[in-house]
Amino acid sequence: MIYVLNGPSLNLLGTREPEIYGHQTLEDITVMLTSQAERLGLSIEVRQSNHEGQLIDWLHEANAVGAKAVLLNAAGYTHTSVAMLDAIKSIQVPVIEVHLSDPQKREEFRHHSYVGMAAVACFAGHGAKSYLLALDAAAKL
Ligand code: DQA
Repeated sequence: MIYVLNGPSLNLLGTREPEIYGHQTLEDITVMLTSQAERLGLSIEVRQSNHEGQLIDWLHEANAVGAKAVLLNAAGYTHTSVAMLDAIKSIQVPVIEVHLSDPQKREEFRHHSYVGMAAVACFAGHGAKSYLLALDAAAKL
C-alpha cells in the first residue's frame, strides 16, 4: 500500500493558478496514478486535506498500517511546517516529496523544504507527472 497525501488547496487543482499547476484536477491525477499503480502491482490510497494535523495523522496512519511508502505533496506546509518534518522523522515509512511546480525556480520562501529535510527523494517541476515519477521510485524501494 502506498499513501499519496496532498496538502492545502490541492483540492482546487484544475482551476488554481493553472499557469503554474496545470489544468489537471486532483481527480485526474488520482485516475492516472491508479492505473500506473495497477501496472506496477501496487495499491494506493490518495487523500487531500487543507489541515496540517490531518496530514500528520495520515502520516502516522501510513506507518501504523505498514505502508510501503508515502508520496507527500505538503503544498504550502512544505515550507513552513516543523511539525510535518517531525512527523516524517517519527515514522519508519519512507516519504517521497512531490511538487507539481519546481519550488526552487519560484519565490525564495519556497526554496526551503522542511519535508525535504527528511524525505528520501523529491520529484518536482514535472506537473502531474511528478506524481508518476514518484510512484515509479516508490515501487523500486
Ligand atoms: C506545490 C508547491 C508549493 O510551493 C505550493 O505552496 C503549493 C503547491 C506544488 O505542487 O508545486 O501549494 O507543492
